[in-house]
Formats: sequence, C-alpha cells, structure tokens
Amino acid sequence: MNVGAGTGSYEPVDREVTAVEPSAVMRAQRPAGAAPCVAAYAEHLPFEDQSFDAAMAFSTVHHWQDPIAGLREMRRVARRVVVFTFDASAIGWRERFWLSRDYLPEFDSLVAQQLPSLADMTRAIGGRAEPVLIPWDCADGFFEAYWRRPEAYLDEHVRRAVSVWTKLGPEAEQRAVDILRDDLSSGRWAERNRDLLALDAADLGLRLLVA
Ligand SMILES: C[S@@+](CC[C@H](N)C(=O)[O-])C[C@H]1O[C@@H](n2cnc3c(N)ncnc32)[C@H](O)[C@@H]1O
Repeated sequence: MNVGAGTGSYEPVDREVTAVEPSAVMRAQRPAGAAPCVAAYAEHLPFEDQSFDAAMAFSTVHHWQDPIAGLREMRRVARRVVVFTFDASAIGWRERFWLSRDYLPEFDSLVAQQLPSLADMTRAIGGRAEPVLIPWDCADGFFEAYWRRPEAYLDEHVRRAVSVWTKLGPEAEQRAVDILRDDLSSGRWAERNRDLLALDAADLGLRLLVA
C-alpha cells in the first residue's frame, strides 16, 4: 500500500500495489496503468488489520492532519512499514538546511512545528529511524535536493514541483528568492556555506522510518 500516493511517482512497478490518496486533483493526475487508488485519509484507512504485506509513505506525513494517527493506521493494516520523512527538530533539520534557516523563517511554524518528533513518529510504527543522505547531484526534485546547487531554487519550475512553496505563500517565496539571488551574486551564500561545497552528500534531516 502506498499512502498519500499522489501521482504515484514512487510506487514500485514490480509488485501489486494499492494506492491511497485523498485529493481528487492528485488522483486525476495518476498515469494510465498506475496502481488502483482508493480515496481515503491515512488517519482512517479503510482496510482490515494486517491486510497488506507492506505500507509505504513518501514525503506526505507532514501534510497529514494527525501524523501519529496515520502512522498507527499504517502499522495496523500492514506487517511492514516504511516512511520517508524528516526530523523537524532544530538540530535535526531546521538549522541544517540553509534554505529554511536563512531564507524561509516561516518554515518553522508553517511546516516543521506541525510535525511530531521523530521519536514519537518512530514509536507510532514501533520501528527505527535511519538517516537518508542526499547526494549533491540528487536526481529527484524534492525541497532539499538542490542543497549544493543553490541557483536551482531561483528557477520557478524547480519550486513549482515542491508543494512547500505554495504553503509558504507568494510573498515569502518572492522574498526568499530575491535575497538568495542577491546573496549568490555577492558571494555571501558561498561564504556562509563554504563547508557544504566540499561535501558529496549531506544529512539534512531526512529520515527513513522502518518497522
Ligand atoms: C508532497 S505529496 C507526495 C505524493 C507522493 N507520495 C510522492 O512522493 O510523489 C503529498 C501527498 O499527501 C497527500 N495527503 C494530504 N493529506 C493526507 C492525508 N491525511 N492522508 C493521506 N494523504 C494525504 C496529498 O494529497 C498529496 O498527494
């Protein structure tokens, strides 16, 4: 089962999958031939206990109304659980990623503080958390993917692929982009983030919860 499946970008194609996605807009964008998709919320999965071999959730838990309830539901209906999310605590993530730390102070209250602690989320599935390092040339386009390619965030297309920008609103987005552009041309960004430029992979707080 793929919970908060969206368009199904991460669904395995080599096994039988049931997707769960509450948004009709997202469901409508699922490609022909994608796994069947049930309209439901993670917090109330319409399935019997232990009726799936495994349940996955990718980059969706921070959108849920009640992440702990949703994670418990995944555990209830599946024998194994794997969740890709982030550690929203200050040391885990907020202060690690320059984009949210230096350019998007709104992130803290609008996104990070809405997420339970990593310990509580891990407990909800009865599992463990593993760090997921992001390679400098990450082929994916999620929020943190361009940590060593800051110019990418000036590109409207790059930003539109990540829902977080919409959540922050156009004013915060424009301000962050303008200041980042200035800092890149003045060399301030490079000066502040000199340590990152020597890294091939970075721990920016992304975590895989496994049970
Ligand atoms: C950033 S998208 C990720 C989609 C997909 N997992 C992916 O990585 O391509 C987040 C998804 O979570 C869904 N979502 C929001 N609230 C949800 C909830 N309570 N239960 C399940 N999914 C939810 C949204 O509709 C959206 O499709």
